[in-house]
This record gives sequence, C-alpha cells and structure tokens, in this order.
Amino acid sequence: MRIDVFTIFPEYLAPLDLSLIGKARREGLLDVAVHDLRTFTHDRHNTVDDTPYGGGAGMVMKPQPWSEALTYATSLAPGTPHLLVPAPSGRPFTQSFARALATEPWLAFACGRYEGIDERVYDFAAADLGWQVTPVSLGDYVLNGGEVAVLAIIEAVVRLLPGVVGNADSLVEESHEGGLLEYPVYTKPARWTPSAPAHPGAEAPYEVPEVLLSGNHAAIADWRHRQRLERTAERRPDLLPASATVTGLDDLVAAPATPADLPELLVLTRACWVPEAIAAGTAQFPPMTDGPAEHAQALRDWTTWVWRSGGRLVASGRGRRDPDDPSVWQVGRLMVAPDLAGRGLGRAVLAFIESLAPAGVTSYWINTGRRSERNQRIYRKAGYRLAPWESAVHPETVDLVKRRR
Ligand code: 6GU
Repeated sequence: MRIDVFTIFPEYLAPLDLSLIGKARREGLLDVAVHDLRTFTHDRHNTVDDTPYGGGAGMVMKPQPWSEALTYATSLAPGTPHLLVPAPSGRPFTQSFARALATEPWLAFACGRYEGIDERVYDFAAADLGWQVTPVSLGDYVLNGGEVAVLAIIEAVVRLLPGVVGNADSLVEESHEGGLLEYPVYTKPARWTPSAPAHPGAEAPYEVPEVLLSGNHAAIADWRHRQRLERTAERRPDLLPASATVTGLDDLVAAPATPADLPELLVLTRACWVPEAIAAGTAQFPPMTDGPAEHAQALRDWTTWVWRSGGRLVASGRGRRDPDDPSVWQVGRLMVAPDLAGRGLGRAVLAFIESLAPAGVTSYWINTGRRSERNQRIYRKAGYRLAPWESAVHPETVDLVKRRR
C-alpha cells in the first residue's frame, strides 16, 4: 500500500517511523510519504489560509496550494489515490471502514487546519483528477487539525495489511470484530497484591476469574462470550443487535438479569402467559405457576437478559446450552409487555438471545404451546421450523428448531 499525507505540520507525522508502521515501511509492505503543503505556495510568507467568504470566525485553507499539491501527487505512482479528508463533519471511521481501506492500493490524506479547506478542493480532486474523495471523522468531538486523526486512521488500517501484525489470530478476537467489545484479559499472578500499602477496605488480593484457571476451553470460551455481551450492553448498548431495530423505544437498554429484576420478571411472565393459559384451557404450566424460588433458580441455570425502557422492565428472554446436547441452544421465556407488542421488540429479543449462543452451538431450539399460533408464526418468520418429533416438555407443546447460520 502507498500512503501520501499532505500537511503544514510534517513533524506531527513523525510517529509513522515507529513501531508496527515503521516496521511495515522497512519491510516494504508500506510506502509512506509526508509532504509539506507550504512547498506548494509561491508567496514570501508561504500563505496557506485566508478569511472565509460570508464572514465568520477563523481562517480557511486556500484552494491553490492544495490543487498544486494534489496534482503533484498524481506523479508519484500510477493510478489514482482514494483521498481521505479528516474532519469532524466526515463519515464516521469504524473498524469496517478500516477493513475496506486496507484493501486499497493507494490512500492520500489532506490534513486541514483552521476552519477547514476551501470546498472546491474536493470538487477539483474528484472532477479534474478523478479521485475518490471521502471526508472522515474519528468521532463527535473537535481536533485542531487532521494530523492526529491521520495517525489514528493509518494505524488502524496498516495493522490490517497482510503480514503487518505477526499473529493474525490477534486481529480476530478483538473489540469491534463481530460487532462486540473485547472480553477482559488477565495475566500472572493469579492472586495479585499491589505493592503499594493497602488502605482500609482495600480489596487485595485481586483474583483472576476462576474459570480462566480451569483449563476448560469450552467453559472459557463461553465465559468470554458472555463478558463481551455484558460489556457491550454496559458500555456500548448502541452496538447490540437488539437495540437498533425497535421502533418508538429510543431509551431501550439491555442488561443481564440480576436478582433485583426477579419481582418484575415474575409479574411480566405471568402477564405474558395469560393468553396461553386461556388458549390451553389451563394455567397449570411453569410460566404461570413458577414462584419466586423457581424464578431465582432459573436465573442461575439460564442466561437471562432483560430490556428496560423508562426504567420499566418491558421484555426478557433467556438461553442456555441444552444440558443433554451442547450443540443445541435452548431459547426460552421470550416475553414483551403486551402494551408494547408489534414494534419488533420480540423479534429483537429473539435475535439477541440467539446471539448469546457460544461457539460450538449449531442449532437453536424453542418450545411453545401447540395452539400458540401467534408465537409459532413469529418463530417461523425468524426461521424456525416445527420439529418432526413429539416434544418432551409437555404433550400440549411443540418444539421448533433452526440451524445456526
Ligand atoms: Cl478526522 N479531524 C478533525 N480535525 N477533527 C476531528 C476529527 C477529524 N474527528 C473528530 N474530530
């Protein structure tokens, strides 16, 4: 890959000689050139900016040095670069954007300072030079100039180039791969006491989670998967599959169920299963008869999540490996507050509970009432099919199954 950076502060890009990027350059995987925009000025003061038309604060970068700089760039290699313009008004830079950029042969960066670059520079690059031009933003905050952003973007892209990161596995299990945040990591010692004197109430020694010392690789993988989901729910609920698709509930938050949720969970469960009881002509089945003790036990046996909106518990669902067949993920107790039906919440909860399934799971399983036509329709729509066997749960119920894709 070839990268050209245009800036009035070439020294700002000095870190490109260091570490991983420096090594990639020395190994010929990457060719980076940093160009001083002022070399493309012709006046005594090497002027690159001027006052904005229409008035307003600050200065705008003049088009002429930029057009000369970009025209010069076309002589550096055959073909045309993809021009990235760092700016808070740009398209959000993400891991998937980085992956796309890592496949391109040539990137150029135009670092703006002041209030930005004269807009006609982008029109010129696209129309006259035939370049692809993309404004890029690192996030919703303002930097003084694009240089720091360019360092970040180059680092994110270059580490994805084949051969740059020695162990390709370390690219797979990390934050934002698979749409989730990374699990927490630990190293030796297993019991750690900080050398600073502990104040009263200190928690030392600090322990590594026991499962990581167990040598049970399946249990470790399950634990890490859960940690990723719980962290993502806590820190980045916007990344969870279940939050994006629900209409009219913009404050919906997902969280693993805790004992504090049990009273509301019991009430919502009974409320949601009343129509099933009417259809079945009996309320003698677990969702109706389970009391606090059964709900508390289920919290230990299943991975249960709850969804809240305005502080109110509005939906829940749970999943676990089939105790008799670890390749099967049992989905259960999917419920949505009756007044919020029809907004896609049930579908989102189902998709989320499916996403809880750890590696090694190859199919999902749901049990529902034989006469629960509405439920069965929802599950069919989600890809479930009636299992050809009689359900072992209860004669008045059916099993539905779906292969994991
Ligand atoms: Cl990419 N550039 C500048 N100048 N400010 C930013 C940014 C980029 N991303 C967030 N703020």
